[in-house]
Amino acid sequence: MKIAVIGSINMDIVMKVHRLPEKGETLMASDYRTVPGGKGANQAVAAARLGASVAMIGALGNDAFGDTLLKGFQDEGLNVEGIQRTTGASGNALITVDDQGDNTILVYPGANGDITPQWIHQQEKLIQEADWVMLQLEIPMNCVVAAAKLAKKHGKKVILNPAPAAELPPELYTFLDLLTPNETELALLTGITGSEAGMQELLKRGVKTIVVTLGSKGSMAKNGDGTFTAEPYAIKAVDTTAAGDAFNAGLVVALAEERPLQEALAFANAVGALTATQMGAQHSLPLRGQVDDFMKSYQA
Ligand code: RIB
Repeated sequence: MKIAVIGSINMDIVMKVHRLPEKGETLMASDYRTVPGGKGANQAVAAARLGASVAMIGALGNDAFGDTLLKGFQDEGLNVEGIQRTTGASGNALITVDDQGDNTILVYPGANGDITPQWIHQQEKLIQEADWVMLQLEIPMNCVVAAAKLAKKHGKKVILNPAPAAELPPELYTFLDLLTPNETELALLTGITGSEAGMQELLKRGVKTIVVTLGSKGSMAKNGDGTFTAEPYAIKAVDTTAAGDAFNAGLVVALAEERPLQEALAFANAVGALTATQMGAQHSLPLRGQVDDFMKSYQA
């Protein structure tokens, strides 16, 4: 199974705090680390750890973070032919994580913001070789549209995780096999509160299947075959950073293995839940064996 991920690559600067700071407040952190992150990169590494052959398409700056992040991908066995180095800084995220595992994230796009539609077109070969193309919204919107359109031209399956939340150009919906908002993103995209009606609206705009992540309530999906729900796994959340990225990777890996949507949702929930039990973005992404064992132990 081959996946091309087109998206952001960041170095996350993570601080652990008892509670998230208020406006104007200074708090002391109990832990600090730099961890490879970025929504695109997290999805790519997660899919590779679950057994997919993954090409990462994105940009890194000409800095030490760029070197570290590139080496990390190589160590994970990713195809890095689609990574360009720019003259500026790599993408960065400032993350605070509280005792409940909840976070705030500020992203400086750096090199991620320098990607252009022309450059996406130069990656056509990697897109052509993939079965699935995974997209998020931390690179310029015109690049997301160009990538989705190019993938569809080659008959590829396309998933968009609409995070961070932003309005989408109408034509983008028509290129999507899967759209995976959380409840906040769903409300922003549709202007509708209520998952059922919101999902129906997105289907009307041309997406084939909508999957909504419901945090600690699991996930649900809707398409022409009906509505599907998957229960959450009860875990103690340490840090929810990258749990959504891991969920998306799990979903695509399971669907690429031709597992039914219901089963794919349960698998994706497990991948997301396991990710939330560890600190840090890519450091917390589970291996395939860990997910399979976790699901078996849960059923036992
Ligand atoms: O989804 C989590 C990611 O969002 C972090 O790794 C951070 O880099 C931001 O992109």
